[in-house]
Amino acid sequence: MNRVYVCSCFGITEKQVKEHAEAGACTPRQIASVSKAGTDCGSCVRRIQGILGRGSCPRRELLERGGGAGAVSGEMTPVGAEAASPGGLREAA
Ligand code: FES
Repeated sequence: MNRVYVCSCFGITEKQVKEHAEAGACTPRQIASVSKAGTDCGSCVRRIQGILGRGSCPRRELLERGGGAGAVSGEMTPVGAEAASPGGLREAA
């Protein structure tokens, strides 16, 4: 249906990234190690970071809190868009 490619180098879709996130890959590096997305030209890393930042990874909050108390709340943390500043990217601007 709605097939949005995140990584065109490896043909990885947004859905696949979300699935990997749900399976526990909470960082672009972990996504790369399971799917290779982001390991070629690197231009998709920011998008992957955005997807992860939108709360696709249920364990992310727990990880950030150091495995803290309680379950994952329904609350979304809009980290992605502006806040994302990946380190190893070539910035065109
Ligand atoms: S688009 Fe993902 S590595 Fe190039």
